[in-house]
Amino acid sequence: MASSVLHQVLQSTCLFLLIIIVYCSPPEEPIKCSSRNTNCVITNSYGSFPDRATCRAGNVAYPRTEEELISVVSEATKARRKMKVATRYGHSIPKLVCPDGDNGLLISTKYLNRTLAIDVQSMTMSVESGVTLRQLINEAAKAGLALPYTPYWWGLTIGGLLSTGAHGSSLWGKGSAIHDYVVELTIVSPGKPEEGYAKVRRLDEHSSELDAARVSLGVLGVISKVTLKLQHIFKRSITLREKNDSDLADQVVSFGSKHEFADIAWYPSQRKAVYRIDDRVPSSRSGNGLYDYIPFRSSLTRELAAARTTEENQESASDANGKCLSAEVMTSSLQTLAYGLTNDGIAFTGYPVIGYQNRLQSSGTCLDSREDSMITACPWDPRIKGEYFFLAAFSIRLPVAKSFIQDVQKLVTLEPKALCVLGQYNGVLIRYVKGSSAYLGKEEEALDFDMTFYRSRDPMTPRLYEDILEEIEQLAVFKYGGLPHWGKNRNIAFDGAIKKYKNAGEFLKVKDVYDPMGLFSSEWTDQVLGLKGNVTLVKEGCALEGLCICSLDIHCAPSEGYFCRPGKVYKEARVCTKVKK
Ligand SMILES: Cc1cc2nc3c(=O)[nH]c(=O)nc-3n(C[C@H](O)[C@H](O)[C@H](O)COP(=O)(O)OP(=O)(O)OC[C@H]3O[C@@H](n4cnc5c(N)ncnc54)[C@H](O)[C@@H]3O)c2cc1C
Ligand SMILES: *[C@@H]1O[C@H](CO)[C@@H](O)[C@H](O)[C@H]1NC(C)=O
Ligand SMILES: *[C@@H]1O[C@H](CO)[C@@H](O)[C@H](O)[C@H]1NC(C)=O
Ligand SMILES: *[C@@H]1O[C@H](CO)[C@@H](O)[C@H](O)[C@H]1NC(C)=O
Repeated sequence: MASSVLHQVLQSTCLFLLIIIVYCSPPEEPIKCSSRNTNCVITNSYGSFPDRATCRAGNVAYPRTEEELISVVSEATKARRKMKVATRYGHSIPKLVCPDGDNGLLISTKYLNRTLAIDVQSMTMSVESGVTLRQLINEAAKAGLALPYTPYWWGLTIGGLLSTGAHGSSLWGKGSAIHDYVVELTIVSPGKPEEGYAKVRRLDEHSSELDAARVSLGVLGVISKVTLKLQHIFKRSITLREKNDSDLADQVVSFGSKHEFADIAWYPSQRKAVYRIDDRVPSSRSGNGLYDYIPFRSSLTRELAAARTTEENQESASDANGKCLSAEVMTSSLQTLAYGLTNDGIAFTGYPVIGYQNRLQSSGTCLDSREDSMITACPWDPRIKGEYFFLAAFSIRLPVAKSFIQDVQKLVTLEPKALCVLGQYNGVLIRYVKGSSAYLGKEEEALDFDMTFYRSRDPMTPRLYEDILEEIEQLAVFKYGGLPHWGKNRNIAFDGAIKKYKNAGEFLKVKDVYDPMGLFSSEWTDQVLGLKGNVTLVKEGCALEGLCICSLDIHCAPSEGYFCRPGKVYKEARVCTKVKK
């Protein structure tokens, strides 16, 4: 997700400077209250929800133990208050964290961040739900254990990543979603008066309700503790190999079955793909590799601002060639810097990079930096002029993934430069996921596509090749029935999404039992779960923001020459197209 050419070159400098003088500003908390934890506003780590609204809450509670958590839930239940769990950083894009109304309660898991037990014999680890992925990886490694597949960014909390169905990439074993490695989970929900207004449930693998709680969008109550099944720590060998994308559609499935940790970064307008050839190797293989992914490192804020200015200028000048050039330099710089891989934690000397799982599975060094008056920050930190983007992420069933890729390639043939706009955000990340027993988990083996792209600070300003990305989004979720990532995406990706889950009804039954008054539900979760209302928001310019699919020109930007038109490959799509006079 990094931004410019110069920025890339300077990132290595930033790392160098980091060692001697510069420390980076850690992200701010997403909750701000006027006094003593009351009268609060909440946003996400990017400072912006899909509809750009700000959410309010009456107050925030910071329980430090399960007992405190139970009493917080009990008091709020007694008062029939709306509640939502908030985490230290709040990385989800949709409005999952907003309680309804101005008087809701936020329950922060910031201090529920302890490791409770590690059992080396049974290879399990129990943690409180506010523990970050990074803590989990580090603590497990100290005991000689590891989670096999994880999201690539370690700033997520266990509670948050489970609730949104987060995953890494693998078709092996139980697949890449962390919720499929949960063996026990404790959840605190509203209770009846005779239960003291709070009910604690400890679910294990024998409980069918665990399949509701594994991925719950936060609507069942507060997850307090989680026990995960781990493995003995192991080594991996990574080689990143670039190829043209002519045979991508044919190769993608077999590539995933051949390599345990396979993924692919696809640059459709550059007609190439970088294949991650990544497998488990014997621990006797030498190597102490480290992955400190460059787009997740701290960056100099003035470079981020310069990169953003370049991007804004290219957008306003409709400079497609400029975008393609930036994309080219960006991808080749990343390649030269091996994306942040080193063979020994210091230098990259060549592939394969071999090392221990805990040093290669996830990263995010922009989180753990000291205050430095914003000289450096995470690239998307809302306090600076930096990255501001949309993120579309959906999983498409393996049997049809090939046609989806081919449809995108057809669009590139029609508009060769269109997808250069992805180059600055490292292309389309393709990852592997498997079907899950979780009611709101993936239905079957699928390819997960992640696309990050420019968002204007002005909601009424259309983007360069607006239509092509809208068409891809509609192809994915409507033509190919893709499942949206619960923690990412623009509103339209969730339209009708719940109907794609065969066990949605089972999930809702459990929700009715756990929280019959819907205290943990909100307008957004009701819309997403198909209970009330509709995720789309129809108004002037709504299609530009992914809040609706255009049906009228006014949903686009007719004054800027953007009208609502059918798609180029997927004729059923309706997209905001620049009409040449
Ligand atoms: C840089 C970056 C990289 C990412 N990489 C990946 C990736 O590789 N793979 C992937 O799948 N996703 C990835 N994500 C997205 C991510 O998975 C989701 O945004 C994520 O799950 C959010 O976790 P969080 O801890 O920030 O939770 P939040 O966004 O704060 O919360 C998410 C939801 O969970 C609920 N919740 C949180 N804790 C609890 C709890 N204890 N009990 C009940 N409900 C709870 C909240 O109320 C909210 O509804 C990435 C995000 C970023 C910013
Ligand atoms: C838990 O979080 C608090 C607040 O961020 C921090 O001070 C503390 O060190 C953390 N504890 C652990 C075990 O990481
Ligand atoms: C792509 O690479 C293959 C070899 O892997 C080659 O046969 C083919 O001609 C290349 N296609 C293009 C368009 O360059
Ligand atoms: C939501 O509203 C849109 C636009 O009005 C409509 O096209 C869509 O079918 C609705 N979705 C559902 C699930 O009813």
